[in-house]
Amino acid sequence: MSETTEINTKEDVMSLYDQYVIPSYLKNGMVLVQGEGSYVWGSDGERYLDLYPGWGSNPLGHAPVELQEVIQEQAKVLLHLPNNYCHPWQGKLAKAIIEKSFEGKCFFANSGAEANEGALKLARLVGSQKGRHEVITFKQSFHGRTFATLTATGQDKVHKGFEPLVPGFHYAEFNNLESVKALVNEKTAAIMLEPIQGEGGVYPATTEFLKGLRALCDEHGIVLIFDEVQTGIGRTGTWFGFQQYGVEPDVMTLAKALGGGIPIGAFVAKPQFADKMQPGTHASTFGGSPFVCAVAQAVLDTIENQNLLINVNQLSAKVMQRFEQLKGELNVIKDVRGSGFLIGIEVEEDVSLLIAKCMEKGVLVNRAGTNVLRILPALNIFEDDLMKGVDVIEEVLRDA
Ligand SMILES: Cc1ncc(COP(=O)(O)O)c(C=O)c1O
Repeated sequence: MSETTEINTKEDVMSLYDQYVIPSYLKNGMVLVQGEGSYVWGSDGERYLDLYPGWGSNPLGHAPVELQEVIQEQAKVLLHLPNNYCHPWQGKLAKAIIEKSFEGKCFFANSGAEANEGALKLARLVGSQKGRHEVITFKQSFHGRTFATLTATGQDKVHKGFEPLVPGFHYAEFNNLESVKALVNEKTAAIMLEPIQGEGGVYPATTEFLKGLRALCDEHGIVLIFDEVQTGIGRTGTWFGFQQYGVEPDVMTLAKALGGGIPIGAFVAKPQFADKMQPGTHASTFGGSPFVCAVAQAVLDTIENQNLLINVNQLSAKVMQRFEQLKGELNVIKDVRGSGFLIGIEVEEDVSLLIAKCMEKGVLVNRAGTNVLRILPALNIFEDDLMKGVDVIEEVLRDA
């Protein structure tokens, strides 16, 4: 840990939260003061292996050297501009994203929820010319916490207390094409889903399902939106989750890993939809600033130059094999799911206990759904570190 890091006592830090911060997050009792790569240090000086840095938003780990330079340089050059000016970094980033995904154009925002809001607005704008405003999303999905995106989220617990919800949203069963067909009508503007449901419990879509949705949308003129906030930017072992399936959406949303730890959101729309948004239809003060675009560009360049997708695919295969083998041995493991570095282990046990035990042993893992232990390692994690983490998870599962 750096000697310059000023550490207040853990109690001081927590007491400030108690007094001044709205308690909308469940705290795990830890105060973290520094990070480097896949490791973080607590206020007690303890080092932890972080297997979900930034909830999937730190693809290069903590305090990556590759971003330190661009962050410092950009701070000296130009941080923020209103979007009625052009600057050299936004178009370049949009081009890089388009070249890695599909033909179209990008809009930049600040978070996953904001990216999804924009995508939903675009779908309604397109649909408004034909009297279409309804949106089909899926049970167990997660799309954010703003009004439209919490409504899009197919989980009652996320809706509770915020009714009435935004009208026009309907929920189908994930991986059940017939349940979608039953909801499609002449008012359907969009179908939105995560190619792998992340927060809901790491449930991958089947190829057959996504192909079926693509055909359904083509047949009825419905906008197909993939929420790639969690699955995008190399998480699944390809640049975007849809590339695992060979099924292209009309609109794709991004956030989390794109900024390498700096807030950013974006949506990408195919050309026939992108130009529907004309001046005055949508905006975001901080979206696509010189600062965040330069950082996001460095994230993409680093993933490319360091061949991190190869790292993800090679290490993911080893980890999945270990967990699959364990599943055959241990009754506590009900299922192992995921792709690349988005991996979920569904357990019979209370998963929060297992997570606490991993933490006691110096490894930070996360929960998804009700009983899924999820890991979202940095794309540049070293094999030794990842395997040490897997050893600890195995130990905890064996003791369960
Ligand atoms: C698939 C998905 N969409 C949207 C969001 C919301 O993103 P944000 O928290 O940046 O608003 C999340 C966050 O976890 C997510 O996983």
